Amino acid sequence: MDRLRVIGGTSLTGAVRIDGAKNAALPILAATILGDSPSIIRNVPPLSDVKTMLSILESLGAVCSFDMENNVITVDPTTINNYTAPYDLVRKMRGSICVLGPLIGKFGKGTVSFPGGCVIGQRPIDLHLKGLRALNVSMNINHGYIEASTDDLRGNVVFLGGRFGSSVLATANIMLAAVKAKGTTVIESAACEPELVDLANFLKAMGAKIDHAGAHSITIEGVQNLDGVDYTVIPDRIEAGTYILAGAITRSKVTIENIIKEHLWALNDILTHSGVLIETKDNSITVDARSGIFKPLDITTLPYPGFPTDLQAQMMAFMISVKGISVITEKIFPDRFMHIAELNRMAADISLEHATAIIKGGTPLSGAPLMASDLRASAALVLAGLIAQGETVINRIYHLDRGYYKMEEKLRSLGAQIERIPE
Ligand code: EPU
Repeated sequence: MDRLRVIGGTSLTGAVRIDGAKNAALPILAATILGDSPSIIRNVPPLSDVKTMLSILESLGAVCSFDMENNVITVDPTTINNYTAPYDLVRKMRGSICVLGPLIGKFGKGTVSFPGGCVIGQRPIDLHLKGLRALNVSMNINHGYIEASTDDLRGNVVFLGGRFGSSVLATANIMLAAVKAKGTTVIESAACEPELVDLANFLKAMGAKIDHAGAHSITIEGVQNLDGVDYTVIPDRIEAGTYILAGAITRSKVTIENIIKEHLWALNDILTHSGVLIETKDNSITVDARSGIFKPLDITTLPYPGFPTDLQAQMMAFMISVKGISVITEKIFPDRFMHIAELNRMAADISLEHATAIIKGGTPLSGAPLMASDLRASAALVLAGLIAQGETVINRIYHLDRGYYKMEEKLRSLGAQIERIPE
């Protein structure tokens, strides 16, 4: 397994370009199933999660090609002749669950392996099941698989409010079925994440009728046919946020290019409050942390437009670098704290009270051999490695490769001392 070796203590400079959003690309790739003709999806980096989604589409019978030089994927769904997403692929990536909605929308049936829990928490799928049932889909769990079928997909009012707010992929799944249902579907307490707006824009380009995506109440009028289209995915706000935090933690001045600034309000607001200088232009952000004098922070992760759980671990790395006591409360995935033990191995001082992490920041970090536990935790360990004294080696970086394209090359282009050590 590949590892990353980081030598800490170098400040960064220059500009880095952000790739397309993984969490927009995955449901959009699933949505290509709905087309009566091939779709071309642009600005999709060759991440392992993207490749897993393509393997699932191929296992269903779709014909896919990936021009990895240019980040362009073509999916021809007209050859789909199998309706089961197998365990071996679904277990690699929970995002696989979003093929269920389009399989039901297009074929009236679909079987997807039950994804189960993962390292960031239990991750139930009750809202997906509840929403699809409301559209007159019968759902059974058999031998670890969700079997869904209907011969009369009908629109309905669906309430998706869960214990932790709404659900991003449940909203996607219901949208992906409802675009082909008879009549009108209203998703109440829908998730508002930008990736869902991008999915809705893709579906609308195919011919779907969707109003108010990005708001808590989405209205969908079902249509009979959807065509394949040529579509470009939005930039990845979480990748962008990670590089903003790389600039902040290393006390550098760095420009992050190809972003949508509105998607980064929560992060930029909190960093500005801490004392980091943030300058936004139409599609770039410059972070200037060279003053080095910052206030500790108290943040809570929330659904969009609140502070994203997918930047919680990376923000924690920044907090370690700030003198004083910072606090993070995790409201989306209360168990998403596997990075704490590894950060403490670097001499950080972080304790956990239920879903609240207390970070005593300001003491130097010491490089160490580390184990990555999940995608965003891995990014946090890389950021910590950038400021640690000496060498940090991060093992199991296949987690990082799920969601960051060539992170070590991008950081090296900014001046970081980081290299991939092949297996
Ligand atoms: N939840 C339920 N029931 C459900 C579904 C979710 O109780 O049926 C709960 C979850 O347990 C969690 C909360 O609702 O407490 C929100 O989870 P959500 O369903 O929104 O998460 P998701 O849709 O499975 C997506 C992203 C995650 C991101 C979350 C939250 C994709 C492929 N995944 O997951 O991304 O953390 O939304 O924003 O879009 C990542 O990229 O590292 C990642 C984990």
